[in-house]
Amino acid sequence: MIPVASRYVLKRSLFGFDINKKGTPQGTVKVPESLGIVVGLVFLVLAILFQYFNFTADSNWLVEYNAALASICFMILLGFVDDVLDVPWRVKLLLPSIAALPLLMAYAGHTTIIIPKPLVSYVGQEVLDLGCFLSYSDINLTLMKAYSLKVLEFGSPSQQAVYLCKELTDSFVVAGWMYKLYMGLLAVFCTNSINIHAGLNGLEVGQTVVIASAILIHNIMQIGASSDTEYKQAHAFSIYLVQPLLATSLALLSYNWYPSSVFVGDTYTYFAGMTMAVVGILGHYSETLLIFFLPQVLNFLLSVPQLFGFVKCPRHRLPRYNPETGLLTGTRDGTLVNFYLRIFGPKSEKSLCIHLLLVQALGCCFCFMLRYFLAGWDKLP
Ligand code: UD1
Ligand code: MG
Repeated sequence: MIPVASRYVLKRSLFGFDINKKGTPQGTVKVPESLGIVVGLVFLVLAILFQYFNFTADSNWLVEYNAALASICFMILLGFVDDVLDVPWRVKLLLPSIAALPLLMAYAGHTTIIIPKPLVSYVGQEVLDLGCFLSYSDINLTLMKAYSLKVLEFGSPSQQAVYLCKELTDSFVVAGWMYKLYMGLLAVFCTNSINIHAGLNGLEVGQTVVIASAILIHNIMQIGASSDTEYKQAHAFSIYLVQPLLATSLALLSYNWYPSSVFVGDTYTYFAGMTMAVVGILGHYSETLLIFFLPQVLNFLLSVPQLFGFVKCPRHRLPRYNPETGLLTGTRDGTLVNFYLRIFGPKSEKSLCIHLLLVQALGCCFCFMLRYFLAGWDKLP
């Protein structure tokens, strides 16, 4: 469908010029833009049909699964709006937080946090599931438990025990909406960080392919390592969404790889980022997900001065192309692409993209090692 849709988007003047080929005949070719819309729609059709084969009507997963699909669908719409209208940068940043709303409102799953050691004796457990504190009666029940433990410890009811329990209540209520805020911010980060680690043929889709593969491996490993049914289900759920993301992205990559015959548009970067944020949240491994995003975190940190207006931010923060040598040289703009070029010297667009994808893959290996040394192959949030 990508070549077919390419003809249609060109007809409606949805195209871009390949900036890193400026000065060559290739740089004057109109490259069809926003082909992410095609793979996004194929993804949705697959993910929607999949329910018929995997879920029974009374499945608890259906609510969250459909909320996830609504958020992804909303994100594709807003990404396409951005491509067509070219909305200002500040508005762009907010779009994912709007698209994440369906998931945030429907989310009633695990919100596990690890209790700091000094509090463990009061709460009576090491890990707390904040998802169960959505109602006050649940909070009261846990507090009663905490209180009786405290009383047992002191030998009699005491003012200190009451005070500690009051503090706990406040932190529980805050954590309820704070977890939703955290999910919203994660969606904003995942989408935008992929969108701004861009500008080389194949980089937007390439990084998604690497991260999605790492997510898939992680899920399979967790299912293999655990005997907890619910835990396995969360990771299986994540596979249901990551697998079609990986497959559709590979199709897009074959057209977007150097030299690109199509551009993916913000439709794609937002769609891919949102899908990965959603699987991280619903699979309960958002912390691991952020380590898979290590190069994106680095790119974001390098970008902070320009993103927040301390330094002037041009429309495109790309390296400089030298038509004589055919190589890219790093510019002063704060991106990982420029940073890499300035450290390792000029490179061709294709080899630079391959280098950056290898860095991404190394980051994922580092994440697997970190998890292994921290917790063995067992579960860890
Ligand atoms: C983000 C980056 C911007 C970068 C751009 C490239 C920030 C704040 N913004 O902007 O610095 O220049 O992505 O995608 O970091 N293009 C190429 N070759 C490619 C891919 C894109 O030349 O391999 C050009 C094309 O002209 C294309 C345009 O970039 O039409 C798409 O840019 P868009 O995705 O709209 O830019 P932003 O996401 O706003
Ligand atoms: Mg973009």
